[in-house]
Amino acid sequence: MAPFSDRLFLALVLVGSGSALLMAQPSDVLDRGQIIYREHCMECHGETGKGDGPKAPFLSPRPGNLVSAATSAKTDTELLRTIAHGKPRTAMPAWQDRLAVEDQQAALHYIRFLVRFSRSSTPPPPAP
Ligand code: HEC
Repeated sequence: MAPFSDRLFLALVLVGSGSALLMAQPSDVLDRGQIIYREHCMECHGETGKGDGPKAPFLSPRPGNLVSAATSAKTDTELLRTIAHGKPRTAMPAWQDRLAVEDQQAALHYIRFLVRFSRSSTPPPPAP
């Protein structure tokens, strides 16, 4: 079996389009993560994690951009803590009593996956 990143790359090359890609997950954990995310997280965090879900305009503070550098730079431990316990003074709920630990991890896995396929708003750095 090829390493995960190779398979992900293959999926990218083979499918090449956003929505089709989301239907062709390379692993069971991602499948699970996608189901959890779509069911529980998307209404605030948005389909692609950018914080533009249907509930977002009504929240203060707004759900942040989960595919941002700021979130990506946080460790799994940090983000899993936020997922489990929620974020004080925001609408981010605590999921520890509502989702199994594996499902919280799968959701995070899916968020990390979304990062790879999100378009950057800045142009790529110049070639060396
Ligand atoms: C009711 C709206 C809402 C729902 C539902 C929701 N979130 Fe959040 N989430 C927020 C808000 C608001 C924040 C705080 C602002 C921010 O950091 O994005 C947040 C923060 C986070 C953060 C912290 C980001 C960081 O950089 O520290 C993570 C991770 C996260 N949410 C994951 C999830 C996951 C996974 C789910 C589903 C299981 C979920 N959220 C469901 C509103 C929501």
